[in-house]
Amino acid sequence: MPLGRAIDDPGLLTEGRVGVRIIRWSDADRLRQLLADNRSWLERWEATHPSGRSVVPGSVSMRPTVRVLRRQLRAGSGMPFVVLLDGELVGQLSVSEISGGALQSCQIGYWVSQHAAGQGVTTTAVALVIDFLFASLGLHRVEICIRPENGPSLRVVEKLGFRHEGRRPSYIHIDGAWRDHECFVALREEAGAGYVARLRAD
Ligand SMILES: CC(C)(COP(=O)(O)OP(=O)(O)OC[C@H]1O[C@@H](n2cnc3c(N)ncnc32)[C@H](O)[C@@H]1OP(=O)(O)O)[C@@H](O)C(=O)NCCC(=O)NCCS
Repeated sequence: MPLGRAIDDPGLLTEGRVGVRIIRWSDADRLRQLLADNRSWLERWEATHPSGRSVVPGSVSMRPTVRVLRRQLRAGSGMPFVVLLDGELVGQLSVSEISGGALQSCQIGYWVSQHAAGQGVTTTAVALVIDFLFASLGLHRVEICIRPENGPSLRVVEKLGFRHEGRRPSYIHIDGAWRDHECFVALREEAGAGYVARLRAD
């Protein structure tokens, strides 16, 4: 069951040099350029369509995608964030599969440009978004699923203290095949003072 209401735009959320905000129409060209420039960095981890009909990211205009993503906000089904470093757009963080009712849960996916990697950008961006999802949206559970081969992404959930739930065999079609994923969760009752506070304390 979806959330059943539109989600208000939370504006710019920041911690140090890192910011997140909902994607805008004016981000389309910058995103396309980043996706095109980062093919070898991203393609191993990108979702693909089992039919083989996937469009190569960065090869087409992002404007239709931005429109579809922003529609999720109005439908209460997702929150399409972009990730900023010193105000510059360097990646995306997508909150999807938002469920209301008795679940109050969602999934998070993310990527950053290779030139911005290794500075804690994604880890901070995830913390900012989770604090919003728990404190402002009232969700109860945030799930992140990661291929077991993706060491950098596994470090993101490890640094944030996510709980490991287990492996989902052949869970998502990634880079041309069905791939196993390790599933990690954050629960609101285990968030303590929040995820940004947790990072500050480290
Ligand atoms: C996974 C990813 C989002 C992490 O983003 P990030 O902003 O670099 O995250 P962090 O800076 O917190 O670093 C996480 C880990 O990445 C690794 N890392 C650091 N610098 C790196 C670099 N230049 N290149 C590759 N990995 C690096 C380290 O193991 C680091 O952990 P550490 O802080 O203990 O050293 C990013 O590597 C990425 O976009 N990868 C390609 C797409 C992808 O894998 N998406 C996630 C699918 S589940």
